Amino acid sequence: MSLQVTDLRVYYRTLAGDVKALDGATFGIADKEIMGLAGESGCGKSTLGNSLIRLDGRMKYVAGSVNLDGTDLPIWDSDEMVHYRYMEVSVVPQYAMSAMNPTRKIGKMVSELVESRGVSYKEIRPEFERRIDLVGLRRDVTDRYPIELSGGMKQRMVMVISTLMDPSLLITDEITSALDVSTQRAVAETLVSFRDHGFVKSMMVITHDMSILYQIADSILVMYAGKLAEKATTEVIIGRPLHPYTRMLVSSLPEVGVRYADKKLTGIPGGPPSLLHPPTGCRFRARCPLAFAKCEQEPPFVEVEPGHWAACWKATGSDA
Ligand SMILES: Nc1ncnc2c1ncn2[C@@H]1O[C@H](COP(=O)(O)OP(=O)(O)O)[C@@H](O)[C@H]1O
Ligand code: SF4
Ligand SMILES: [Mg+2]
Repeated sequence: MSLQVTDLRVYYRTLAGDVKALDGATFGIADKEIMGLAGESGCGKSTLGNSLIRLDGRMKYVAGSVNLDGTDLPIWDSDEMVHYRYMEVSVVPQYAMSAMNPTRKIGKMVSELVESRGVSYKEIRPEFERRIDLVGLRRDVTDRYPIELSGGMKQRMVMVISTLMDPSLLITDEITSALDVSTQRAVAETLVSFRDHGFVKSMMVITHDMSILYQIADSILVMYAGKLAEKATTEVIIGRPLHPYTRMLVSSLPEVGVRYADKKLTGIPGGPPSLLHPPTGCRFRARCPLAFAKCEQEPPFVEVEPGHWAACWKATGSDA
């Protein structure tokens, strides 16, 4: 197992109280696994991804552990995480386009970045150039400023830079959302090739776009209102999901392979509960067509069959 997350809880401090954005997540990602992370806006996907990289000032580590390749990551200690960030766990952020320093030429920026981690730019440069070739950019891109690159070129550049140190885990957060469909496909295929080349061991691909996940993910983890709802292979999640929420999510796909917009998801009747004061019991209860008395208790996230987890009393056959 490359990544093992156990009972992770990360809240946001607000004047009104804690927003329970990630409220007890337990799951693993195996070596070579590309795991998609899906769910409606606001369900906690970015909170989970960011927790493994950097807790910002408003995020409060509450409980749980994150183990990467046998080492517990000190995710509550931003200074200690410097040793792991970029080197062992790296991110292509939601706004990758603006992540690059506009005042530095790309080569200069990468040189400063790797040297700050004790790696010689001169030594890494041949590999850097090989990877620039691989994603179809020209080597002289290193002499250019980020602003001189198109959106798709910047995206590929950030992907190369993020994985240059061969991190164990790469997290990408909605990196295809702002791109046109053909660029989306190219970016998605590049992610798979990075895994196949061994630049990264495993990946967490965060997106609300199930069709991208259908294209590239080995497995899909579905979140709902700060909790994990279901995890299984992509085939199982798309073909025979157990959790009523996953079923609604999948049935809102117009046609497999066709991109759907966020608004399709809001086509599921009702809305998610407040994470400031989440309801007790199953958080999907108010929208669930199958809800019954037992759903007033919280369903545990259990392995229903090998490699298939779900948090639902009906799905797990505990509907007595
Ligand atoms: N800085 C913040 N302060 C308070 N609440 C936040 C903050 N950032 C996110 N949240 C809340 O946390 C929940 C999860 O957000 P997020 O992880 O961004 O979801 P997603 O990435 O799935 O859209 C949402 O209810 C959101 O409103
Ligand atoms: S536990 Fe109950 S309310 Fe929750 S998804 Fe299952 S059937 Fe629906
Ligand atoms: Mg997000």
